[in-house]
Amino acid sequence: MSRARIVAVASAKGSPGCSFVALGLAARLAQAGLATLLIDADAEAGSLATSLDLARLEPSPGFTPLTEAALAGATVDVSAGLGCLDLSGDPPEVDGRALAELARLRYPAVVIDLGHRPARFQRELVAAADWLLWVVAPDRTGFERADRILGGDALPRVGAGIVLNRLGPDRLSDAGSVLAERHRLPLLARLPESARGARDAARRCSSPHRAREFRRPFAELARCVHPDILGGGGERWP
Ligand SMILES: Nc1ncnc2c1ncn2[C@@H]1O[C@H](COP(=O)(O)OP(=O)(O)O)[C@@H](O)[C@H]1O
Ligand SMILES: [Mg+2]
Repeated sequence: MSRARIVAVASAKGSPGCSFVALGLAARLAQAGLATLLIDADAEAGSLATSLDLARLEPSPGFTPLTEAALAGATVDVSAGLGCLDLSGDPPEVDGRALAELARLRYPAVVIDLGHRPARFQRELVAAADWLLWVVAPDRTGFERADRILGGDALPRVGAGIVLNRLGPDRLSDAGSVLAERHRLPLLARLPESARGARDAARRCSSPHRAREFRRPFAELARCVHPDILGGGGERWP
């Protein structure tokens, strides 16, 4: 088995589907047999917990000191092989990098939903990550916001790639390739707009990766970011 992989997922503002992609990818990695930890590190509280129907659970206890036992105690099992750690909202009193490295010891795959407002905690998490996935909505506003954030230094530079989400007939079909070329990043996945697929996933409190429309792109994305996925190309990337 390879070294564990940490994948951070970020976006510009405007809800292009950052949490949707983080959840779908984490669940797909778990489905492939990798124990996966999904961390909600969005500065805005609670969206992943709501979509996973975890809202009624007790809030995570603190992390002092930061130990494996504290991590295990704060993690909620969502489904077979998938744990969720809700650290959304105010940043916890821990170093994001130390937390990510601790998670790496327990989980072969860690997916982090960073949301769109990176601050100290999110930057530390990214510094420990192997991948930074930028989720982009391919409409005019989504393209312009992504172009701006990709050109800036909001987050540290690690192996990064673009995930296009919500592609439909009326969308800018070349948004992904233009951004990829301009910012020298690989275009890793293209997910369609599917209200039905998203609704099904929400209704069953399951993950978007199971909906027919999203199965293939999530499987390909999982292969890109983790070398232990069958046929994976992880060795090509950082
Ligand atoms: N490809 C898609 N097709 C249809 N609906 C989607 C898709 N991606 C995301 N959504 C929906 O859009 C809304 C916002 O997605 P979310 O992941 O919460 O955005 P963000 O985390 O970027 O704010 C959610 O209701 C989600 O189900
Ligand atoms: Mg979100």
